[in-house]
Amino acid sequence: MDYLKLHGHAPLHGSVAISGAKNASLPLIAMTLLSKNTVSIGNVPEVVDIKTLLKLLQNLGAECSFNEHRITINTGSLTDTKANYDIVKTMRASILVLGPLLTRFGHCEVSLPGGCAIGQRPIDLHLKALEKMGAIITIKSGYVLAEAPEGLSGASIVFDKITVTGTANIVMAAALARGTTTITNAAREPEVVQLCEVLQHSGIAIEGIGSADLTIHGNNGTLIDIAPFDVIPDRIEAGTYLCAGAITNSTITLTHVEPKHLETVIAKLEEMGFHCDINEHSITIHPAQQVKAVNIVTQEYPGFPTDMQAQFMALCTQAEGTSTIEERLFENRFMHVSELQRLGADIKLSGHIATITGPSKISGSDVMATDLRASSALVLAALIADGETDIHRIYHLDRGYEKLESKLKALGAVIQRSKE
Ligand code: UD1
Repeated sequence: MDYLKLHGHAPLHGSVAISGAKNASLPLIAMTLLSKNTVSIGNVPEVVDIKTLLKLLQNLGAECSFNEHRITINTGSLTDTKANYDIVKTMRASILVLGPLLTRFGHCEVSLPGGCAIGQRPIDLHLKALEKMGAIITIKSGYVLAEAPEGLSGASIVFDKITVTGTANIVMAAALARGTTTITNAAREPEVVQLCEVLQHSGIAIEGIGSADLTIHGNNGTLIDIAPFDVIPDRIEAGTYLCAGAITNSTITLTHVEPKHLETVIAKLEEMGFHCDINEHSITIHPAQQVKAVNIVTQEYPGFPTDMQAQFMALCTQAEGTSTIEERLFENRFMHVSELQRLGADIKLSGHIATITGPSKISGSDVMATDLRASSALVLAALIADGETDIHRIYHLDRGYEKLESKLKALGAVIQRSKE
């Protein structure tokens, strides 16, 4: 197993190019199940989660290639509709194939994703919405068995909670359904917006894109023609590098980025005393005179992203005074707290609220990555630690950060990957 060794206190400088968004690529790859042509998708990050979903599609019979950030997928020869446990257990987002497979073939089996380090993460809202569209769903031996022999019908869906992959699944299912589907309380994340826009360019009429109320006019089972397109930049990777600049109090520039997707993150950094220069597709972060404590509440987009919570917790350890972070989306997304404490952070947990008192002296130690974003918080803390930090179980980082160590190295960090 690989681990990362970091020597703290190296100042960062220079620029870093942000990769395409993993969380946008995943639904867009699942969307190719709705296409009749070979689909070409550019700016796809070369990370493990993408390879996992491609493997799932290949197992179903799709032809896929992945070179230099471009994926081509042809699902024309696909006949199998069973997504096996072996793959789904390694990546929850595999559930994104449920809607497209069911709407195209009228039946499919997808393994239940099972537990997850950051909480229970059920898929009940996906299933309830598909049932409303006419699907007959049974759960058997750990699999979701879904059938709609006559195809899915448009329906009026009201999500009790905002769900990102749930919205994506239903939008894709609705694209090939009979009639019109409305979704109330839809996710408004940029990744969902891109999915809707690509479907719209492919001939599916969708109203309300970017709002909480979507209307999708289904085309009654006609496979669509999808023109080549590029994936949007990864706002969470970008936010993580902004935090790397902030925590080391360095000036660094992010290129290939979409600043409007990062408004709440930039606002928090500015509240903490960092200055950001924003251009059309680049952001430069400058050091703060004094790093101020903040209060953060995670929310659905356009609120503060839960996927940036752990990184800001690392940053808050260097702020003067007491910061609070309230996690509203996932019940157990504080696994990084004990590891940050091992490095010297002063963090108290009470239910969904973490209270961080700073500034703390961070001392290098052995720590363990627990989930994707928690791992990046440990990397950030290690950048300012006295001495050496070894971060173990970095397969979590490899799921979502492309070339993390070479990007950080190019910025001046002292970081190296080794085998246990
Ligand atoms: C997506 C992102 C993940 C991010 C999360 C929240 C991808 C691949 N992953 O995950 O990085 O942290 O959004 O921004 O895009 N819920 C239910 N029932 C359901 C579905 C969800 O109760 O059927 C709950 C979840 O447990 C959670 C909340 O709704 O508390 C939001 O989850 P959701 O938006 O579905 O997260 P994901 O789409 O899995």
